[in-house]
Amino acid sequence: MSRILITGGTIVTAADTYEADVLLDGEKIAQIGTGLSAGGAKKIDASGKYVIPGGIDVHTHMELPFGGTSASDDFETGTRAAAFGGTTTIVDFAVQAMGGTLAAARDEWMRKADGKAVVDYGLHMIVRDVSDTILREMDTLVREGVSSFKLFMAYPGVFMVDDGAIFKALVRTGENGGLICMHAENGGVIDVLVKKALAEKKTAPKWHALTRPPEAEGEATGRAFKLAEMAGGVPLYIVHLSAAQALEQVRLFRDRGLPAYAETCPQYLFLSYDNYEEPGFEGAKYVMSPPLREKWHQEELWKGLQRNDLQVVSTDHCPFCMKEGFQGQPKQKELGKGDFSKIPNGAPGVETRMALMFDGGVVAGRITASRWIELTSTTPAKIMGMFPRKGTIAVGSDADIVIWDPKASQTLSAKTHHMRVDYSPYEGRKVKGKAVTVLSRGEVIVEKNRFVGKKGRGKFIKRGSPVFQT
Ligand code: URP
Ligand code: ZN
Ligand code: ZN
Repeated sequence: MSRILITGGTIVTAADTYEADVLLDGEKIAQIGTGLSAGGAKKIDASGKYVIPGGIDVHTHMELPFGGTSASDDFETGTRAAAFGGTTTIVDFAVQAMGGTLAAARDEWMRKADGKAVVDYGLHMIVRDVSDTILREMDTLVREGVSSFKLFMAYPGVFMVDDGAIFKALVRTGENGGLICMHAENGGVIDVLVKKALAEKKTAPKWHALTRPPEAEGEATGRAFKLAEMAGGVPLYIVHLSAAQALEQVRLFRDRGLPAYAETCPQYLFLSYDNYEEPGFEGAKYVMSPPLREKWHQEELWKGLQRNDLQVVSTDHCPFCMKEGFQGQPKQKELGKGDFSKIPNGAPGVETRMALMFDGGVVAGRITASRWIELTSTTPAKIMGMFPRKGTIAVGSDADIVIWDPKASQTLSAKTHHMRVDYSPYEGRKVKGKAVTVLSRGEVIVEKNRFVGKKGRGKFIKRGSPVFQT
């Protein structure tokens, strides 16, 4: 078993920022203290750097089938890109086939990840039909470590489930210790607006946003929390929250003492509706659901992060290429040329989250370094049942550690990123902060801008029930 001593760095956890050395023994953190002696261990000098727990991105879609194509990153390319950006654990969404079992979907996603993932991964389950059999299967999955289930209030005919199904699933997680993760947009209203826009020959990418108003997200978010309240006050986690109207609902329910939780994503903090107005078909880069909102929503979301009405920043990483042929990828965003409703929904982000949140959050003075870690690693680990194995620097935790240079600058660009996609939503954006050395379970996997880990070394993480401390 190899031993590594990280010396001279500043440890940043959700709780503290302090100078100390960290001794790793095999896959685990063995000792934390000042003046630790190496005793034959390999040394990593972290002077002038932060020593942080690896980022945890609890919302990714590697190879997600969507709109006649599949997300362009697989578990190998996507997790390698994650590692470059300082993320050492992802939780990806398996998808129940229509009429299929949850076990079959879980096995399918395990096959996609097995032998490919370079960092550890967990799985959520997207549930598309909530029958009695499926409800029973949810219990089994929770026991087997797939302890969260995504339901959709949007995409009628594809993913959407009705209020009765949502209610039943919420009651079930109240009993089995699982967690419902909700895509909260009013799919019925959106469907009408989309059909109307297309009938009026409004086909450009910006119509994706204009037919998915923030009120449709606010309404669905409030309805979802009401259903959770009627189900006995069970916890509910809203995914990819984008709009002030939805945040208002989270705040309302939290203020009433209900277990209401939500994540937002960097795209909603750094990009806006204006991006859809870029010339030609460029707006397709930002076609995702919920869509980017008007700029004023951004400051509301930052307030939500500061006041803990939003507890997690994930990415919803779901890349599709703009042009056919990039690294062998088929036609993807271009499937929606002439019809915005056929543009596959999603954008890349797994590699850029930690740096964007450090630069736009910590460097910009909006959040502390500890809050940065809490939002991107510690609370995701807690809510998704992986703490304290993941999400902190503590004796006995997995040695998932990032040496972060707070002074380094980088320019985000498709020319230099590692995600398998031919554009960056943040092209040319200069950010401060960079992951310089990345360790996953005690093994250096990124150093000197090179990936030095092995394909397939990532392990499935059997997750427990959520822990809510915020
Ligand atoms: O546009 C998005 N968000 N694509 C991925 C699927 C989802 O709803 O998370
Ligand atoms: Zn979603
Ligand atoms: Zn998603």
